[in-house]
Formats: sequence, structure tokens, C-alpha cells
Amino acid sequence: MGTKDITILAIESSCDETSASIILNGKVLNNIVATQSVHEKYGGVVPELASRAHQENLIPVVHEAIKTSGISKIDLSAVAFTRGPGLMGSLLVGVSFAKAFAKALDIPLIDVNHMQAHVLAHFIEDPKPKFPFICLTVSGGHTQLVLVKDYLDMEVIGQTQDDAVGEAFDKTAKLLGLPYPGGPLVDKYAKEGNPKAFSFPITRMPGLNYSFSGIKTAVLYFLRDRIQENPKFIEENLNDLCASIQHTLIEMLVIKLKEAVKQYGVTEIAIAGGVSANSGLRSSLTELAKKRAWNLYIPKFEYCTDNAAMIAMAAHYKYLRGEFVGMDVTPLAKMKL
Ligand code: KG4
Ligand code: ZN
Repeated sequence: MGTKDITILAIESSCDETSASIILNGKVLNNIVATQSVHEKYGGVVPELASRAHQENLIPVVHEAIKTSGISKIDLSAVAFTRGPGLMGSLLVGVSFAKAFAKALDIPLIDVNHMQAHVLAHFIEDPKPKFPFICLTVSGGHTQLVLVKDYLDMEVIGQTQDDAVGEAFDKTAKLLGLPYPGGPLVDKYAKEGNPKAFSFPITRMPGLNYSFSGIKTAVLYFLRDRIQENPKFIEENLNDLCASIQHTLIEMLVIKLKEAVKQYGVTEIAIAGGVSANSGLRSSLTELAKKRAWNLYIPKFEYCTDNAAMIAMAAHYKYLRGEFVGMDVTPLAKMKL
């Protein structure tokens, strides 16, 4: 390990994934993730349980990251952590750990914005988007259109005014009786269904903004009426229901993305966040990109969902700029991009 090497330990604990990663000179060496299954039986993330699980999982996850990277703790140049946005209790576990670690090793501390990190996940592996690009970040907590001018220079040009699209997937899935998180299951059943079987209203917000709370209510009333006529309606139509709901959500995402492309004249397009794993979204965007000569970038699945490798990537660029924080740093549950 040369003295000029930049080696960073990064940790992520904003929601229900406890993760640690080591990055050496901008190259991610590993990405250890402990997923919390405790929330499944509650049909959503329970904040208090998430904090406790982070407390339990963080040290083993960090140990594993250090061990498998082949580097020694004393070679670390800095420690990075997710400062926000996220669940306050979960963030506190990560921030407190990072502070203690930085103090013990007498190395600098780097705070990372979780949403910025989702975008920077595109720089973990090739091919990498060229600046400026538009990133559609779609997760369980966020839905944003981001104009990315440089690694650390990003502007939110549109975002949801209520629920995130991942939430819409999960909440409608729950109405269909599917377990949490329902998004991946809706994706699975949609593959066998007809996306035009049922139609749900498309909510159109001003500008490049989104709203996903309406579809939940629309699906709720639709199901209530149909179940009155036929108590087995969901069971008999599950594939078509999933395909139609997914189709509506994708339509809403794509309409604003097209508008953003037109408005900003940018054709480098990236998607990030857990919902970018959705196969319907991937194929719609791939087709659209081909038709409109966009360059489309979709990260590997493990870098789409919450992970510390993306935090490490963001931390690397902050380290190069000398952007560190002091021991008095506190988490920001509603941290803005
Ligand atoms: O980025 P992420 O792991 O965590 C947050 O920061 O929220 O995203 C999780 C979200 C959940 O809502 C989950 O249902 C959704 O991503 N998701 C999917 C798929 N895989 C994950 N939604 C639709 N289709 C999928 N294949
Ligand atoms: Zn996330």
C-alpha cells in the first residue's frame, strides 16, 4: 500500500440494508450487504427494528469488508457514511460508528448524500455516462429526475410530491395480497400478464414532478368493486392486474423523462435506485433509447438497491476535493440533494 493510495471504508445504514464497502483509488473492492428480513411480517420497514438490526449487523459487515479487501485497517485514508436522507435511528447507528472508527484511527470523516450516491453508482463499473446526463432515481423512498453536471454537481429537476414509485409498487402489491416488498413480485407476475387488461388513471403533475399516491386509491376502489362481483377476482386476474399496474407506473415515469430530455437537450440517460431492477421499466427504456438514439445506462442490480459501494464511490470524489466533516456532524433525515 503506497502512501499516496486513497483507501476508504464506506458504510450505508439509511433504511433496511446494512452495508460496508472498501474502495481503493476509485476502484470498489467489495460490497458487503446484510438485508434485514425482520420487516417482512409487518408489511413495511419498522424504523425501530431497522435501527436495532443495524446495531447488530454493522460490525460484522465492516469486519467482512475489511477482511475480504485484503487491506489492513491502518491503511485506511478515511471513513465515509450516509448522512441522509433516511430513517433517523438507522442513520444514527452509521454516523456514530463512523465517528468512533475515524477517531480511533485518527483519519478524516466523509459524509455522503444517499441520493447523490445512487447517481454515482454509475461510476463503479463501465460503461460510465458522460456529463451532463439525466438520472432517473427510483426507489422505495424517492423518485427524482436529476440533471448531473459533474460528480458532485447535481440538480433535482423533478420529483414526486407524495409517494415514491417503489412505494406505489409495494402498496398496490399489498392490496393484491402480496408480501412486502411487493415490487419484485409485481414484476414477476407482470411478465405473464396483459398490460392493457385494465386501465388505471395516469396522474399528471405540473413541470417535471410526479405523484404516485393516486394509483393506490384507484386500485383499492377498483378491486373493491370487482371483488363484490367475484370474490376470486384477484386470484383469477393476478398476472393481468400486475401487468396493468406496472404499465401505468412505467408510463408515468417515462412521460416526464421524455419531457426532461426535450427540455434539457440531454440524451445521456441513466436510471438508479431499487425500482431500476424492474424488467418492464428496463425494457421500455431500452426500446425508447434505441428509437430516440439515447445512450442508456443501467447499473448492475447489486448497485441499484441500497449498498455501500455507491457511498464509497461518492466518498472517493469528496476525498479528492478535500470535503471532510468534523466530529460534531449529525444525520439529516431529510437531507436535500
Ligand atoms: O433503492 P432501494 O433498495 O431502497 C430504497 O432506498 O428505497 O429500493 C427498494 C424499492 C422497493 O420499493 C422495492 O419494491 C422496489 O425497490 N423494487 C422493485 C423491483 N425490485 C425492487 N420494484 C419493481 N420491480 C422490481 N423488480
Ligand atoms: Zn436508496
